[in-house]
Amino acid sequence: MAVHDLRGRSLGDLRISVTDRCNLRCTYCMPRESFGPNHEFLPRSGLLTFEEIRDVVVAAAPLGVRKLRLTGGEPLLRRDLERLVEMLRIAVPEADIALTTNGVLLSGKAKALADAGLDRVTVSLDAMDASVYAAMADVDHGPEAAMEGIEAALDAGLSVKVNCVVRAGVNEQDIVPLVRTFGPRGITVRFIEYMDVGATNDWSMASVLPGAAVRTMIEEVHGPLNAITPSSPSDVARTWSTKEGWTFGCIDSVTAPFCGDCSRARLSADGALYTCLFSNDGHPLLPLVREGASTEDLRQAILSIWSGRNDAYSEQRNGSAERSGRVEMSYIGG
Ligand code: GTP
Ligand code: 5AD
Ligand code: SF4
Ligand code: SF4
Repeated sequence: MAVHDLRGRSLGDLRISVTDRCNLRCTYCMPRESFGPNHEFLPRSGLLTFEEIRDVVVAAAPLGVRKLRLTGGEPLLRRDLERLVEMLRIAVPEADIALTTNGVLLSGKAKALADAGLDRVTVSLDAMDASVYAAMADVDHGPEAAMEGIEAALDAGLSVKVNCVVRAGVNEQDIVPLVRTFGPRGITVRFIEYMDVGATNDWSMASVLPGAAVRTMIEEVHGPLNAITPSSPSDVARTWSTKEGWTFGCIDSVTAPFCGDCSRARLSADGALYTCLFSNDGHPLLPLVREGASTEDLRQAILSIWSGRNDAYSEQRNGSAERSGRVEMSYIGG
């Protein structure tokens, strides 16, 4: 049963945030000034349990959901995450199940996650240079732990991608080293344009390095690039290969928005459904779930939320738009 929104877009992906906490403080996502010791994270009792997440997934799956992505915050901070993966694998055996993580805790978990039925992992890693990594993530270490996590994920047989948020003037010199590190290993690095998500980062258009500039930087070193045909219209990344056969991607969400094919719904850790990364409000499903709603009732609720959806924020972006009420990416997940 496919479901379409007011712009004719179908529901295909469900991105599930399992926690709003994180062990890094990336300046573009959870700046320490806003996410310091006094920040109030969601109370444990307010988080969807694994069983409740499974119930939402079971309700949503027949509406067309093919891809499930576990995210956060940092999803590996949620204890026994592999148990959720196992439950989802059993509930929707045919789903593509992926994880977005900063990779710091991945080396100890990769095998258990793969055994539980995880298909893919995307590791956020913004620089190879230790001091640039530390500055981007606002921590006192370099990318070593994330690199060990990537190794462990490959050893466990998981398919791996790397995400790098590019901030103009901060980590652009790491673009070519990232391609040279991961390209030969068959890992696609995707360069993401810095976005004005949430209300706490200091985003301005001047801090965005356009994807076109990323490609020019790579071309200057590696020569002409080959564009690779996207596998699905709802893919957020466009991919290129270098003459060495190394692939990389660009997610040009600011300079080339992709709202027209947006098939993504987001479930926050406290059980609200968001239909856009830039939403101010979610649709709370937690009360329904906790009141013991049937799968069919939950499905009807999701169907009605998706059918009424009209979001296209990135295509309508206006530099002066009010940001104060906007939900944070660490809360609904990248
Ligand atoms: P696969 O291609 O299936 O591996 O996954 P993906 O590209 O959907 O997932 P990933 O979490 O790696 O997304 C990469 C980044 O693209 C996110 O971290 C966001 O920065 C950005 N992104 C993903 N979805 C959206 C979206 O719906 N809107 C906007 N504006 N940006 C998005
Ligand atoms: N702009 C672009 N990408 C972001 N991410 C987090 N905040 C932003 C932002 N402001 C990305 C992270 C990670 C994913 C969870 O979202 O780098 O890859
Ligand atoms: Fe944590 Fe990811 Fe946000 Fe960085 S981008 S603070 S790793 S949730
Ligand atoms: Fe989808 Fe909103 Fe992102 Fe556009 S801005 S692609 S509608 S999540």
